[in-house]
Amino acid sequence: MATTADTLGNQQTDLTQQRILVLDFGSQYAQLIARRVREQSVYCEIVRHDISLEAIVRRQPKGLILSGGPSSVYQEGAPKCDPKIFELGIPILGICYGMQLSCEMLGGKVKSHSAGEYGRAQLELLGEDPLLANVPATSQVWMSHGDQVDSVADCYIPLAKTSTCPIAAVRHQTLPIFGLQFHPEVTHSEAGSIMLGNFVKQICGCEGLWKLSDFAKQTIESLRQRIGDKRVICGLSGGVDSSVVAAILAKAIGQQLSCILVDNGLLRAGEKESVVEAFGKHFETDLHVVDAREKFLGTLAGITEPQEKRRRIGHAFIDCFKAEAVKVDDAHFLAQGTLYPDVIESGAAPDGPAATIKLHHNVGGLPEELGFELIEPLRDLFKDEVRRLGLELGLPEEMVWRHPFPGPGLAVRVLGEVTEAKLAVLRAADTILIHELVDSGWYRKTSQAFAVLLPVQSVGVMGDARTYENVLAIRSVDTSDFMTADWSHLPYELLGKISTRIINEVKGVNRVVYDISSKPPATIEWE
Ligand code: XMP
Repeated sequence: MATTADTLGNQQTDLTQQRILVLDFGSQYAQLIARRVREQSVYCEIVRHDISLEAIVRRQPKGLILSGGPSSVYQEGAPKCDPKIFELGIPILGICYGMQLSCEMLGGKVKSHSAGEYGRAQLELLGEDPLLANVPATSQVWMSHGDQVDSVADCYIPLAKTSTCPIAAVRHQTLPIFGLQFHPEVTHSEAGSIMLGNFVKQICGCEGLWKLSDFAKQTIESLRQRIGDKRVICGLSGGVDSSVVAAILAKAIGQQLSCILVDNGLLRAGEKESVVEAFGKHFETDLHVVDAREKFLGTLAGITEPQEKRRRIGHAFIDCFKAEAVKVDDAHFLAQGTLYPDVIESGAAPDGPAATIKLHHNVGGLPEELGFELIEPLRDLFKDEVRRLGLELGLPEEMVWRHPFPGPGLAVRVLGEVTEAKLAVLRAADTILIHELVDSGWYRKTSQAFAVLLPVQSVGVMGDARTYENVLAIRSVDTSDFMTADWSHLPYELLGKISTRIINEVKGVNRVVYDISSKPPATIEWE
Protein backbone atom coordinates (compact mmCIF):
# COMPACT_ATOMS: atom_id res chain seq x y z
CA MET A 1 0.00 0.00 0.00
CA ALA A 2 1.42 3.40 -0.96
CA THR A 3 2.19 5.91 1.74
CA THR A 4 3.42 9.47 1.53
CA ALA A 5 5.19 11.41 4.25
CA ASP A 6 3.72 14.82 5.02
CA THR A 7 5.90 17.72 6.10
CA LEU A 8 5.41 16.80 9.75
CA GLY A 9 6.92 13.43 8.98
CA ASN A 10 3.62 11.55 9.46
CA GLN A 11 3.14 8.59 7.20
CA GLN A 12 -0.16 8.90 5.36
CA THR A 13 -1.84 6.39 3.14
CA ASP A 14 -2.49 7.88 -0.27
CA LEU A 15 -6.23 7.28 -0.51
CA THR A 16 -6.27 7.75 -4.27
CA GLN A 17 -3.32 5.48 -4.96
CA GLN A 18 -5.37 2.42 -5.89
CA ARG A 19 -7.52 3.79 -8.64
CA ILE A 20 -9.83 2.58 -11.37
CA LEU A 21 -10.14 4.59 -14.59
CA VAL A 22 -13.43 4.77 -16.49
CA LEU A 23 -12.83 5.41 -20.19
CA ASP A 24 -15.87 7.41 -21.29
CA PHE A 25 -17.27 6.57 -24.71
CA GLY A 26 -20.06 9.12 -24.39
CA SER A 27 -22.18 7.21 -21.91
CA GLN A 28 -24.85 8.99 -19.93
CA TYR A 29 -23.86 6.64 -17.10
CA ALA A 30 -20.08 7.29 -16.92
CA GLN A 31 -20.42 9.34 -13.73
CA LEU A 32 -22.72 6.76 -12.24
CA ILE A 33 -20.16 4.02 -12.88
CA ALA A 34 -17.49 6.09 -11.12
CA ARG A 35 -19.76 6.75 -8.14
CA ARG A 36 -20.68 3.08 -7.84
CA VAL A 37 -16.99 2.17 -7.78
CA ARG A 38 -16.35 4.78 -5.12
CA GLU A 39 -19.21 3.32 -3.09
CA GLN A 40 -16.97 0.24 -2.89
CA SER A 41 -14.40 2.57 -1.18
CA VAL A 42 -12.25 2.46 -4.31
CA TYR A 43 -11.11 5.72 -5.90
CA CYS A 44 -12.26 6.11 -9.49
CA GLU A 45 -11.67 8.72 -12.17
CA ILE A 46 -13.32 9.36 -15.54
CA VAL A 47 -11.08 9.98 -18.53
CA ARG A 48 -11.61 10.40 -22.27
CA HIS A 49 -11.92 7.21 -24.31
CA ASP A 50 -8.97 8.25 -26.48
CA ILE A 51 -6.61 8.84 -23.55
CA SER A 52 -3.08 7.91 -24.58
CA LEU A 53 -1.47 4.71 -23.41
CA GLU A 54 1.28 6.73 -21.68
CA ALA A 55 -1.29 8.80 -19.77
CA ILE A 56 -2.96 5.60 -18.56
CA VAL A 57 0.34 4.06 -17.50
CA ARG A 58 1.32 7.27 -15.68
CA ARG A 59 -1.83 7.07 -13.57
CA GLN A 60 -1.03 3.47 -12.58
CA PRO A 61 -4.64 2.25 -12.46
CA LYS A 62 -5.46 -1.12 -10.89
CA GLY A 63 -8.20 -1.59 -13.48
CA LEU A 64 -10.00 -0.02 -16.43
CA ILE A 65 -13.71 0.17 -17.13
CA LEU A 66 -14.82 0.91 -20.69
CA SER A 67 -18.17 2.70 -20.49
CA GLY A 68 -21.21 2.38 -22.70
CA GLY A 69 -21.90 4.90 -25.42
CA PRO A 70 -24.40 5.78 -28.13
CA SER A 71 -22.31 4.66 -31.13
CA SER A 72 -22.07 1.36 -33.00
CA VAL A 73 -18.58 -0.11 -33.00
CA TYR A 74 -18.75 -0.91 -36.73
CA GLN A 75 -19.74 2.66 -37.73
CA GLU A 76 -17.16 4.92 -39.29
CA GLY A 77 -15.77 7.33 -36.74
CA ALA A 78 -16.99 5.24 -33.78
CA PRO A 79 -14.94 6.16 -30.69
CA LYS A 80 -12.15 3.67 -30.04
CA CYS A 81 -9.47 3.29 -27.41
CA ASP A 82 -5.80 2.56 -27.94
CA PRO A 83 -5.75 -1.20 -28.77
CA LYS A 84 -2.57 -1.58 -26.71
CA ILE A 85 -4.56 -1.18 -23.49
CA PHE A 86 -5.56 -4.83 -23.96
CA GLU A 87 -1.89 -5.80 -23.70
CA LEU A 88 -1.18 -3.93 -20.47
CA GLY A 89 -2.18 -6.86 -18.29
CA ILE A 90 -4.44 -4.55 -16.24
CA PRO A 91 -7.96 -5.99 -15.72
CA ILE A 92 -10.52 -4.44 -18.07
CA LEU A 93 -14.30 -4.48 -17.76
CA GLY A 94 -16.28 -3.40 -20.83
CA ILE A 95 -19.86 -2.31 -20.22
CA CYS A 96 -22.37 -2.35 -23.11
CA TYR A 97 -20.54 -0.45 -25.92
CA GLY A 98 -17.33 -1.07 -23.94
CA MET A 99 -17.94 -4.83 -24.10
CA GLN A 100 -18.80 -4.72 -27.79
CA LEU A 101 -15.64 -2.76 -28.46
CA SER A 102 -13.39 -5.14 -26.50
CA CYS A 103 -14.91 -8.18 -28.19
CA GLU A 104 -14.68 -6.61 -31.64
CA MET A 105 -11.11 -5.41 -31.16
CA LEU A 106 -10.11 -8.91 -30.12
CA GLY A 107 -11.81 -10.74 -33.00
CA GLY A 108 -15.51 -11.07 -32.09
CA LYS A 109 -18.53 -10.00 -34.16
CA VAL A 110 -21.03 -7.29 -33.21
CA LYS A 111 -24.37 -6.97 -34.97
CA SER A 112 -27.28 -4.61 -34.85
CA HIS A 113 -30.51 -6.25 -33.69
CA SER A 114 -33.60 -4.74 -35.20
CA ALA A 115 -35.59 -4.51 -32.00
CA GLY A 116 -32.72 -3.70 -29.67
CA GLU A 117 -33.24 -4.43 -25.98
CA TYR A 118 -34.21 -1.67 -23.56
CA GLY A 119 -35.23 -2.08 -19.95
CA ARG A 120 -35.45 -5.04 -17.61
CA ALA A 121 -34.20 -8.49 -18.54
CA GLN A 122 -33.53 -11.73 -16.66
CA LEU A 123 -29.88 -12.66 -16.51
CA GLU A 124 -29.04 -16.38 -16.36
CA LEU A 125 -25.55 -17.44 -15.39
CA LEU A 126 -23.90 -20.06 -17.60
CA GLY A 127 -21.01 -20.94 -15.30
CA GLU A 128 -18.83 -19.76 -12.47
CA ASP A 129 -16.43 -16.86 -12.58
CA PRO A 130 -14.86 -14.46 -10.05
CA LEU A 131 -16.75 -11.58 -11.73
CA LEU A 132 -20.03 -13.28 -10.90
CA ALA A 133 -19.19 -14.59 -7.43
CA ASN A 134 -22.22 -14.32 -5.10
CA VAL A 135 -24.50 -13.33 -8.00
CA PRO A 136 -27.74 -15.41 -7.95
CA ALA A 137 -28.23 -17.93 -10.80
CA THR A 138 -30.94 -15.65 -12.19
CA SER A 139 -31.37 -11.95 -11.49
CA GLN A 140 -32.82 -8.83 -13.06
CA VAL A 141 -30.52 -6.61 -15.11
CA TRP A 142 -31.01 -3.37 -17.04
CA MET A 143 -30.33 -3.44 -20.76
CA SER A 144 -30.08 -0.49 -23.12
CA HIS A 145 -28.61 -1.39 -26.47
CA GLY A 146 -29.35 -1.65 -30.17
CA ASP A 147 -26.27 -3.76 -30.95
CA GLN A 148 -25.04 -6.87 -29.24
CA VAL A 149 -22.12 -9.23 -29.52
CA ASP A 150 -23.21 -11.87 -32.02
CA SER A 151 -20.28 -14.21 -31.73
CA VAL A 152 -17.07 -14.12 -29.77
CA ALA A 153 -13.69 -15.31 -30.92
CA ASP A 154 -12.54 -18.62 -29.47
CA CYS A 155 -10.56 -16.75 -26.88
CA TYR A 156 -13.74 -15.57 -25.11
CA ILE A 157 -16.00 -17.57 -22.82
CA PRO A 158 -19.69 -16.58 -22.52
CA LEU A 159 -20.61 -16.28 -18.83
CA ALA A 160 -24.30 -15.35 -18.88
CA LYS A 161 -27.29 -14.82 -21.19
CA THR A 162 -30.75 -13.33 -21.31
CA SER A 163 -33.69 -14.55 -23.41
CA THR A 164 -32.75 -12.25 -26.30
CA CYS A 165 -29.03 -11.83 -25.74
CA PRO A 166 -27.05 -15.09 -25.83
CA ILE A 167 -23.82 -13.35 -24.83
CA ALA A 168 -24.73 -11.02 -21.98
CA ALA A 169 -21.47 -11.47 -20.04
CA VAL A 170 -18.08 -12.73 -21.20
CA ARG A 171 -14.49 -13.16 -20.12
CA HIS A 172 -11.30 -13.69 -22.07
CA GLN A 173 -9.70 -17.14 -21.84
CA THR A 174 -6.24 -15.91 -20.92
CA LEU A 175 -6.34 -12.13 -20.40
CA PRO A 176 -8.12 -10.37 -17.50
CA ILE A 177 -10.70 -8.87 -19.87
CA PHE A 178 -14.42 -9.02 -19.03
CA GLY A 179 -17.59 -7.70 -20.62
CA LEU A 180 -21.18 -7.03 -19.51
CA GLN A 181 -23.81 -6.21 -22.10
CA PHE A 182 -26.14 -4.77 -19.44
CA HIS A 183 -25.57 -1.86 -17.04
CA PRO A 184 -24.37 -3.04 -13.60
CA GLU A 185 -24.18 0.60 -12.44
CA VAL A 186 -27.93 1.23 -12.43
CA THR A 187 -29.97 0.14 -9.43
CA HIS A 188 -32.37 -1.86 -11.63
CA SER A 189 -29.53 -4.36 -12.15
CA GLU A 190 -30.12 -6.20 -8.89
CA ALA A 191 -26.66 -7.73 -8.49
CA GLY A 192 -24.87 -4.89 -10.31
CA SER A 193 -22.97 -3.61 -7.29
CA ILE A 194 -21.86 -7.17 -6.41
CA MET A 195 -20.37 -7.52 -9.91
CA LEU A 196 -18.65 -4.12 -9.77
CA GLY A 197 -17.36 -4.99 -6.30
CA ASN A 198 -16.04 -8.34 -7.57
CA PHE A 199 -14.27 -6.57 -10.41
CA VAL A 200 -12.58 -3.80 -8.44
CA LYS A 201 -11.75 -5.82 -5.32
CA GLN A 202 -11.29 -9.50 -6.26
CA ILE A 203 -10.11 -9.05 -9.85
CA CYS A 204 -8.25 -5.71 -9.69
CA GLY A 205 -7.11 -6.24 -6.10
CA CYS A 206 -8.16 -2.84 -4.73
CA GLU A 207 -8.29 -2.84 -0.94
CA GLY A 208 -10.95 -0.15 -0.42
CA LEU A 209 -8.80 2.75 0.78
CA TRP A 210 -11.15 5.52 -0.28
CA LYS A 211 -12.90 6.45 3.00
CA LEU A 212 -14.43 9.86 3.51
CA SER A 213 -13.48 10.08 7.18
CA ASP A 214 -9.84 9.57 6.21
CA PHE A 215 -10.26 11.99 3.32
CA ALA A 216 -11.52 14.63 5.78
CA LYS A 217 -8.57 14.10 8.13
CA GLN A 218 -6.02 14.24 5.34
CA THR A 219 -7.60 17.23 3.64
CA ILE A 220 -7.68 19.16 6.90
CA GLU A 221 -4.03 18.37 7.49
CA SER A 222 -2.91 19.29 3.99
CA LEU A 223 -4.99 22.51 4.02
CA ARG A 224 -3.26 23.51 7.26
CA GLN A 225 0.12 22.99 5.70
CA ARG A 226 -0.67 24.76 2.47
CA ILE A 227 -2.34 27.76 4.10
CA GLY A 228 0.16 28.23 6.94
CA ASP A 229 -0.73 31.42 8.80
CA LYS A 230 -2.35 33.13 5.81
CA ARG A 231 -6.02 34.14 5.52
CA VAL A 232 -8.66 32.47 3.32
CA ILE A 233 -11.84 33.97 1.91
CA CYS A 234 -14.82 31.76 1.16
CA GLY A 235 -18.04 32.84 -0.54
CA LEU A 236 -21.13 31.28 1.05
CA SER A 237 -24.38 30.80 -0.80
CA GLY A 238 -26.33 28.63 1.61
CA GLY A 239 -25.82 25.71 -0.79
CA VAL A 240 -24.23 22.39 0.13
CA ASP A 241 -20.90 22.80 -1.68
CA SER A 242 -19.85 26.18 -0.33
CA SER A 243 -21.05 25.18 3.15
CA VAL A 244 -18.91 22.04 3.13
CA VAL A 245 -15.89 23.99 1.86
CA ALA A 246 -16.35 26.50 4.67
CA ALA A 247 -16.83 23.74 7.24
CA ILE A 248 -13.66 21.89 6.28
CA LEU A 249 -11.69 25.15 6.29
CA ALA A 250 -13.16 26.14 9.63
CA LYS A 251 -11.89 22.81 11.04
CA ALA A 252 -8.51 23.28 9.39
CA ILE A 253 -7.70 26.91 10.10
CA GLY A 254 -10.45 28.25 12.40
CA GLN A 255 -10.14 32.00 12.80
CA GLN A 256 -8.02 32.45 9.66
CA LEU A 257 -11.17 31.89 7.60
CA SER A 258 -13.37 34.81 6.51
CA CYS A 259 -16.70 33.94 4.88
CA ILE A 260 -18.69 36.32 2.71
CA LEU A 261 -22.42 35.92 2.15
CA VAL A 262 -23.91 38.32 -0.37
CA ASP A 263 -27.57 38.83 0.48
CA ASN A 264 -28.81 39.61 -3.02
CA GLY A 265 -32.47 39.70 -2.01
CA LEU A 266 -33.01 36.65 -4.22
CA LEU A 267 -32.55 34.03 -1.51
CA ARG A 268 -35.23 31.69 -0.21
CA ALA A 269 -37.02 32.48 3.03
CA GLY A 270 -34.76 31.77 6.00
CA GLU A 271 -31.69 31.00 3.86
CA LYS A 272 -29.53 33.85 5.15
CA GLU A 273 -30.53 33.10 8.74
CA SER A 274 -29.52 29.44 8.47
CA VAL A 275 -26.07 30.39 7.13
CA VAL A 276 -25.59 32.92 9.93
CA GLU A 277 -26.67 30.28 12.46
CA ALA A 278 -24.30 27.63 11.10
CA PHE A 279 -21.22 29.72 10.38
CA GLY A 280 -21.60 32.77 12.63
CA LYS A 281 -22.63 30.72 15.67
CA HIS A 282 -21.75 27.04 15.28
CA PHE A 283 -18.41 27.36 13.48
CA GLU A 284 -17.70 30.86 14.85
CA THR A 285 -16.26 32.03 11.55
CA ASP A 286 -15.49 35.64 10.68
CA LEU A 287 -18.73 36.03 8.69
CA HIS A 288 -19.42 39.08 6.52
CA VAL A 289 -23.04 39.41 5.43
CA VAL A 290 -23.29 41.99 2.66
CA ASP A 291 -26.73 43.53 2.38
CA ALA A 292 -26.94 44.08 -1.38
CA ARG A 293 -30.68 43.64 -1.78
CA GLU A 294 -31.25 47.11 -3.19
CA LYS A 295 -28.35 46.89 -5.60
CA PHE A 296 -29.62 43.63 -7.13
CA LEU A 297 -33.27 44.67 -7.35
CA GLY A 298 -32.14 47.98 -8.83
CA THR A 299 -30.09 46.37 -11.56
CA LEU A 300 -32.95 43.97 -12.37
CA ALA A 301 -35.64 46.66 -12.62
CA GLY A 302 -37.38 46.54 -15.96
CA ILE A 303 -35.34 43.54 -17.20
CA THR A 304 -37.29 40.58 -18.52
CA GLU A 305 -34.84 38.70 -20.75
CA PRO A 306 -33.47 35.67 -18.82
CA GLN A 307 -29.87 35.82 -20.05
CA GLU A 308 -29.71 39.54 -19.36
CA LYS A 309 -31.00 38.91 -15.83
CA ARG A 310 -28.23 36.36 -15.30
CA ARG A 311 -25.59 38.69 -16.71
CA ARG A 312 -26.61 41.55 -14.45
CA ILE A 313 -26.76 39.33 -11.40
CA GLY A 314 -23.30 37.96 -12.24
CA HIS A 315 -21.80 41.44 -12.49
CA ALA A 316 -23.50 42.70 -9.34
CA PHE A 317 -22.24 39.66 -7.47
CA ILE A 318 -18.65 40.21 -8.56
CA ASP A 319 -18.85 43.90 -7.56
CA CYS A 320 -20.21 43.11 -4.11
CA PHE A 321 -17.84 40.26 -3.46
CA LYS A 322 -14.81 42.26 -4.55
CA ALA A 323 -15.79 45.28 -2.44
CA GLU A 324 -16.13 43.07 0.65
CA ALA A 325 -13.04 40.94 -0.06
CA VAL A 326 -10.73 43.95 -0.12
CA LYS A 327 -11.92 44.75 3.42
CA VAL A 328 -10.45 41.47 4.66
CA ASP A 329 -6.86 42.23 5.58
CA ASP A 330 -4.12 39.90 4.33
CA ALA A 331 -6.44 37.59 2.41
CA HIS A 332 -4.28 35.33 0.29
CA PHE A 333 -6.51 32.44 -0.77
CA LEU A 334 -10.00 32.14 -2.20
CA ALA A 335 -11.83 28.86 -1.52
CA GLN A 336 -14.31 27.45 -4.02
CA GLY A 337 -16.70 24.51 -4.02
CA THR A 338 -15.62 23.02 -7.35
CA LEU A 339 -16.70 19.35 -7.53
CA TYR A 340 -15.39 16.43 -9.52
CA PRO A 341 -18.13 16.59 -12.21
CA ASP A 342 -16.93 20.17 -12.95
CA VAL A 343 -13.37 19.04 -13.61
CA ILE A 344 -13.86 15.72 -15.38
CA GLU A 345 -11.62 15.70 -18.38
CA SER A 346 -13.91 13.46 -20.36
CA GLY A 347 -16.29 15.39 -22.63
CA ALA A 348 -16.11 12.22 -24.60
CA ALA A 349 -18.84 13.10 -27.05
CA PRO A 350 -17.00 12.91 -30.37
CA ASP A 351 -18.44 16.17 -31.58
CA GLY A 352 -17.12 18.25 -28.74
CA PRO A 353 -18.44 20.23 -25.83
CA ALA A 354 -22.16 20.42 -25.15
CA ALA A 355 -23.97 23.50 -26.35
CA THR A 356 -24.37 26.28 -23.82
CA ILE A 357 -28.00 26.04 -22.95
CA LYS A 358 -27.94 28.70 -20.27
CA LEU A 359 -25.41 31.18 -19.09
CA HIS A 360 -24.51 29.67 -15.72
CA HIS A 361 -23.03 32.08 -13.29
CA ASN A 362 -21.05 30.96 -10.31
CA VAL A 363 -18.01 32.29 -8.52
CA GLY A 364 -15.83 31.25 -11.48
CA GLY A 365 -13.87 34.16 -12.90
CA LEU A 366 -13.41 35.81 -9.52
CA PRO A 367 -9.96 34.59 -8.55
CA GLU A 368 -8.06 35.98 -11.51
CA GLU A 369 -9.61 39.40 -11.10
CA LEU A 370 -8.88 39.47 -7.41
CA GLY A 371 -5.41 38.00 -7.53
CA PHE A 372 -6.10 35.28 -4.96
CA GLU A 373 -4.63 31.83 -4.99
CA LEU A 374 -7.37 29.26 -5.44
CA ILE A 375 -8.26 26.49 -2.97
CA GLU A 376 -10.66 23.77 -4.09
CA PRO A 377 -10.85 21.10 -1.38
CA LEU A 378 -13.77 19.22 -3.01
CA ARG A 379 -12.27 18.83 -6.49
CA ASP A 380 -12.09 15.05 -6.12
CA LEU A 381 -15.61 14.50 -4.84
CA PHE A 382 -19.02 13.72 -6.24
CA LYS A 383 -22.06 15.50 -4.80
CA ASP A 384 -23.16 12.57 -2.65
CA GLU A 385 -19.64 12.30 -1.23
CA VAL A 386 -19.73 16.04 -0.45
CA ARG A 387 -22.96 15.49 1.47
CA ARG A 388 -21.50 12.62 3.48
CA LEU A 389 -18.42 14.74 4.17
CA GLY A 390 -20.66 17.60 5.35
CA LEU A 391 -22.30 15.29 7.90
CA GLU A 392 -18.89 13.98 8.95
CA LEU A 393 -17.84 17.60 9.61
CA GLY A 394 -20.90 18.30 11.75
CA LEU A 395 -23.08 20.36 9.40
CA PRO A 396 -26.82 20.11 10.14
CA GLU A 397 -28.83 17.58 8.09
CA GLU A 398 -31.11 20.28 6.60
CA MET A 399 -28.08 22.06 5.20
CA VAL A 400 -26.39 18.95 3.86
CA TRP A 401 -29.50 17.60 2.15
CA ARG A 402 -30.60 20.95 0.73
CA HIS A 403 -31.59 20.78 -2.94
CA PRO A 404 -29.34 22.71 -5.33
CA PHE A 405 -30.25 26.35 -5.72
CA PRO A 406 -29.15 28.36 -8.78
CA GLY A 407 -26.70 31.24 -8.37
CA PRO A 408 -29.21 33.80 -9.75
CA GLY A 409 -31.62 32.57 -7.09
CA LEU A 410 -35.32 33.35 -7.19
CA ALA A 411 -34.74 35.83 -10.03
CA VAL A 412 -34.95 32.98 -12.55
CA ARG A 413 -38.10 31.67 -10.85
CA VAL A 414 -40.00 34.93 -11.09
CA LEU A 415 -40.56 34.85 -14.82
CA GLY A 416 -40.32 38.25 -16.45
CA GLU A 417 -39.49 41.33 -14.40
CA VAL A 418 -38.38 40.73 -10.83
CA THR A 419 -39.98 42.90 -8.16
CA GLU A 420 -39.98 42.82 -4.38
CA ALA A 421 -43.73 42.08 -4.38
CA LYS A 422 -43.42 39.10 -6.74
CA LEU A 423 -40.47 37.74 -4.76
CA ALA A 424 -42.56 37.88 -1.59
CA VAL A 425 -45.34 35.83 -3.25
CA LEU A 426 -42.86 33.29 -4.58
CA ARG A 427 -41.07 32.97 -1.24
CA ALA A 428 -44.33 32.31 0.60
CA ALA A 429 -45.38 29.63 -1.91
CA ASP A 430 -41.91 28.07 -1.96
CA THR A 431 -41.89 27.82 1.84
CA ILE A 432 -45.17 25.91 1.81
CA LEU A 433 -43.96 23.59 -0.95
CA ILE A 434 -40.72 22.73 0.83
CA HIS A 435 -42.46 22.32 4.18
CA GLU A 436 -44.97 19.85 2.71
CA LEU A 437 -42.26 17.89 0.90
CA VAL A 438 -40.19 17.59 4.07
CA ASP A 439 -43.22 16.75 6.17
CA SER A 440 -44.31 13.95 3.84
CA GLY A 441 -40.80 12.50 3.52
CA TRP A 442 -40.64 13.38 -0.22
CA TYR A 443 -37.95 16.09 0.01
CA ARG A 444 -35.15 13.55 0.28
CA LYS A 445 -36.67 11.37 -2.45
CA THR A 446 -36.61 14.19 -5.01
CA SER A 447 -33.50 15.88 -6.38
CA GLN A 448 -34.73 19.44 -6.73
CA ALA A 449 -38.12 21.03 -6.11
CA PHE A 450 -39.25 24.62 -6.34
CA ALA A 451 -42.04 26.99 -7.27
CA VAL A 452 -42.10 29.31 -10.28
CA LEU A 453 -44.23 32.45 -10.41
CA LEU A 454 -45.64 32.83 -13.90
CA PRO A 455 -46.40 36.18 -15.53
CA VAL A 456 -49.85 34.86 -16.35
CA GLN A 457 -53.07 35.69 -14.62
CA SER A 458 -56.13 33.52 -14.53
CA VAL A 459 -59.68 33.87 -13.33
CA GLY A 460 -60.76 32.21 -10.13
CA VAL A 461 -63.52 32.34 -7.57
CA MET A 462 -62.84 32.61 -3.85
CA GLY A 463 -65.80 32.86 -1.54
CA ASP A 464 -68.34 34.62 -3.70
CA ALA A 465 -65.85 36.91 -5.35
CA ARG A 466 -64.17 36.66 -8.72
CA THR A 467 -60.37 36.75 -8.56
CA TYR A 468 -57.83 37.51 -11.25
CA GLU A 469 -54.46 36.45 -9.90
CA ASN A 470 -51.19 34.78 -10.84
CA VAL A 471 -50.55 31.19 -11.80
CA LEU A 472 -47.81 29.38 -9.90
CA ALA A 473 -46.04 26.32 -11.26
CA ILE A 474 -44.53 23.60 -9.10
CA ARG A 475 -41.49 21.80 -10.47
CA SER A 476 -39.95 18.71 -8.88
CA VAL A 477 -37.40 16.50 -10.61
CA ASP A 478 -35.52 13.26 -10.04
CA THR A 479 -32.02 13.11 -11.46
CA SER A 480 -28.56 11.82 -10.65
CA ASP A 481 -26.51 14.41 -12.53
CA PHE A 482 -28.90 17.28 -13.41
CA MET A 483 -27.99 16.80 -17.09
CA THR A 484 -31.09 14.71 -17.65
CA ALA A 485 -34.07 14.62 -15.33
CA ASP A 486 -37.52 13.12 -15.00
CA TRP A 487 -40.40 14.90 -13.27
CA SER A 488 -41.09 13.48 -9.83
CA HIS A 489 -44.11 11.23 -9.58
CA LEU A 490 -45.39 12.89 -6.41
CA PRO A 491 -48.60 11.44 -4.93
CA TYR A 492 -51.78 13.23 -6.03
CA GLU A 493 -52.79 13.73 -2.38
CA LEU A 494 -49.55 15.59 -1.70
CA LEU A 495 -49.88 17.74 -4.82
CA GLY A 496 -53.47 18.46 -3.82
CA LYS A 497 -52.45 19.52 -0.33
CA ILE A 498 -49.67 21.77 -1.64
CA SER A 499 -52.01 23.40 -4.14
CA THR A 500 -54.78 23.98 -1.59
CA ARG A 501 -52.42 25.44 0.97
CA ILE A 502 -50.75 27.79 -1.52
CA ILE A 503 -54.00 29.07 -3.00
CA ASN A 504 -55.53 29.57 0.47
CA GLU A 505 -52.53 31.02 2.20
CA VAL A 506 -50.60 32.98 -0.42
CA LYS A 507 -52.25 36.17 -1.52
CA GLY A 508 -51.62 36.73 -5.22
CA VAL A 509 -51.91 33.09 -6.41
CA ASN A 510 -55.23 31.54 -7.39
CA ARG A 511 -54.07 28.60 -9.54
CA VAL A 512 -51.31 26.02 -9.14
CA VAL A 513 -50.06 23.78 -11.96
CA TYR A 514 -47.57 20.90 -11.87
CA ASP A 515 -44.77 20.76 -14.44
CA ILE A 516 -44.56 17.29 -16.02
CA SER A 517 -41.77 17.95 -18.53
CA SER A 518 -38.61 15.89 -18.53
CA LYS A 519 -35.14 17.23 -19.30
CA PRO A 520 -34.42 17.14 -22.19
CA PRO A 521 -36.23 18.68 -23.95
CA ALA A 522 -37.19 21.02 -21.08
CA THR A 523 -34.57 22.31 -18.65
CA ILE A 524 -34.95 22.10 -14.89
CA GLU A 525 -35.29 25.84 -14.30
CA TRP A 526 -37.88 27.72 -16.36
CA GLU A 527 -35.57 30.58 -17.31
P1 XMP B 1 -31.10 23.56 -15.95
O1 XMP B 1 -32.16 24.56 -15.73
O2 XMP B 1 -29.97 24.07 -16.81
O3 XMP B 1 -30.45 23.33 -14.50
O4 XMP B 1 -31.63 22.23 -16.39
C1 XMP B 1 -29.53 22.36 -14.15
C2 XMP B 1 -29.09 22.64 -12.72
O5 XMP B 1 -28.35 23.88 -12.70
C3 XMP B 1 -29.00 24.83 -11.88
N1 XMP B 1 -28.91 26.12 -12.56
C4 XMP B 1 -28.04 27.08 -12.24
N2 XMP B 1 -27.07 27.12 -11.30
N3 XMP B 1 -26.50 29.28 -11.99
C5 XMP B 1 -26.32 28.25 -11.16
O6 XMP B 1 -25.45 28.32 -10.28
C6 XMP B 1 -27.44 29.32 -12.97
O7 XMP B 1 -27.57 30.29 -13.70
C7 XMP B 1 -28.23 28.15 -13.10
N4 XMP B 1 -29.24 27.79 -13.94
C8 XMP B 1 -29.63 26.55 -13.60
C9 XMP B 1 -30.43 24.34 -11.75
O8 XMP B 1 -31.04 24.84 -10.55
C10 XMP B 1 -30.24 22.85 -11.75
O9 XMP B 1 -29.84 22.37 -10.49
